[in-house]
Amino acid sequence: MLHSYILEFLSVAQRTAISSYDMAGLGDSKEADRVAVEVMRNSLNEVNATINVMVGEGERDCAPMLHIGEVLGKGGPLLELAVDPLEGTDVCASFMDGSLVVLGFGKPGSIISTPDVYMEKIYTPYDCDISFGNTVAENLKKIASAKGVKGPEELIVVILKRERNQKLITEVRDVGARVQLVTDGDISAIVSMVIGNAGDAYMGSGGAPEGVLSAMAVRNLGGRMVGRLLFKSGEQRERAQKLGITDFERSYSHDELIREDAILILTGVTEGKLLGGVKKGSLKHPAYCESLVILPGSFSKVCSTIHVCK
Ligand code: FBP
Repeated sequence: MLHSYILEFLSVAQRTAISSYDMAGLGDSKEADRVAVEVMRNSLNEVNATINVMVGEGERDCAPMLHIGEVLGKGGPLLELAVDPLEGTDVCASFMDGSLVVLGFGKPGSIISTPDVYMEKIYTPYDCDISFGNTVAENLKKIASAKGVKGPEELIVVILKRERNQKLITEVRDVGARVQLVTDGDISAIVSMVIGNAGDAYMGSGGAPEGVLSAMAVRNLGGRMVGRLLFKSGEQRERAQKLGITDFERSYSHDELIREDAILILTGVTEGKLLGGVKKGSLKHPAYCESLVILPGSFSKVCSTIHVCK
């Protein structure tokens, strides 16, 4: 049943990407986000389903967002949705590489509802027992052994370049692993690792919505991921409680973040390592964009030309 919705959701992602691309380079990340959210909301309202938003992105930095609990669509079978309408808002506003539209949908009961707080994440494409209960050195030794190499010195660990991740960066280097810093985009970093050979682990704190969306790729294609929500205030804990989260220390595996089959779609906005960016058309020339559709057990890259009707 989910598969029958792929084209409709792909079209939502493509329309959002093409509109967001118009905001690339204008230097206004809030406005870029607002445009993405509005186009996505309008496009989702044309889908033939009743869509419950389980995960939105934007509360953390007071940005425009599709709200958790919002119901969209024309009506019909119930679906759950997790979205990041514009992943990398600053990236897009600065016309740098790597901004994306990301959405994932599944049947009722498939997607956990988390508030937009930070999440500490560990992902590795190898099959091993990573955990927040282990030290960084222990996790890296397990990853090295699952990869079949001598030790952590043969691993590349991708980490978001943030002050709050500095202690982790030092710990990873201290055990001899190499650190690849990314300035933005943990969904891109994890999905690149899920679908190909782009590092041995992702570690550190980024957004929780990005964590849930990344977990969808992991559930569908493999590897191990754990995530733990990080709360900075009582207000954030209250928001979590309203969504049914009572154990604030809990570690979630990717199978607990995404509990049933779900389909993840990513469309490039600006050029990126994972996906090419939008090439803008005109009334005479079609726009071009690239998407990844990640299904349980397989993924496809979709290159589309789209006639933009104004
Ligand atoms: P935005 O789309 O909200 O700009 O997110 C980009 C991003 O790099 C995410 O990939 C990451 O999870 C998050 O920012 C981390 O948040 P912060 O920039 O506050 O450290």
